Amino acid sequence: MLKDTILKRRTVRRFTDEKMPIETLKELLMYASMAPSNANAHPVEFIIVDEKEELDYLASMDKFGAKHLANVPLAIIIIANKDICKYWVQEASMTAAYLDLLIQEEGFQSGYIPFHNNTTDKRQDAEDYIKEHFKIPDNFGALGVISLGKKDERVRARKEFPIDEKIHINSYE
Ligand SMILES: Cc1cc2nc3c(=O)[nH]c(=O)nc-3n(C[C@H](O)[C@H](O)[C@H](O)COP(=O)(O)O)c2cc1C
Repeated sequence: MLKDTILKRRTVRRFTDEKMPIETLKELLMYASMAPSNANAHPVEFIIVDEKEELDYLASMDKFGAKHLANVPLAIIIIANKDICKYWVQEASMTAAYLDLLIQEEGFQSGYIPFHNNTTDKRQDAEDYIKEHFKIPDNFGALGVISLGKKDERVRARKEFPIDEKIHINSYE
């Protein structure tokens, strides 16, 4: 059930070496691509990264926040074509959220690192740092990266979330 999948999902940063089979991954990417899309534009595309050298590059972006990416079995960079949809950040974010839950439901776990609006630890624009290396065309935005695999760390079960103070009816006040 979707509610159980959401309850069980926690960010994981340390994984075993096991990779999700490529056919399974492709299927999940197909379902994730069914997220809502303005005028059915579907501008979101993916770069699957599973070579050690390339994962090391992702990790080099920020030795504080992204260091663990050097040791993940696989990661997916979420990109979107800005020419065909001005809402590319929202499109890519919705697709990423779908994908995160699909990964969890498949019995794998995931973590997320943003590129868009982020800087490297050398104060470079993180999106440019990634786009240049992975040869992502100029007219694409790079939202972030989802790493995934089988967890090799203990993660705490989610506690109940207080929600009442975040819900406003008809007006903020
Ligand atoms: C926009 C965004 C940025 C994030 N940035 C990072 C990051 O730089 N490094 C990291 O390890 N996790 C990052 N995360 C994952 C969060 O740290 C994680 O979701 C949060 O700690 C809550 O834990 P949970 O996912 O287990 O509920 C990010 C998540 C989002 C949505």
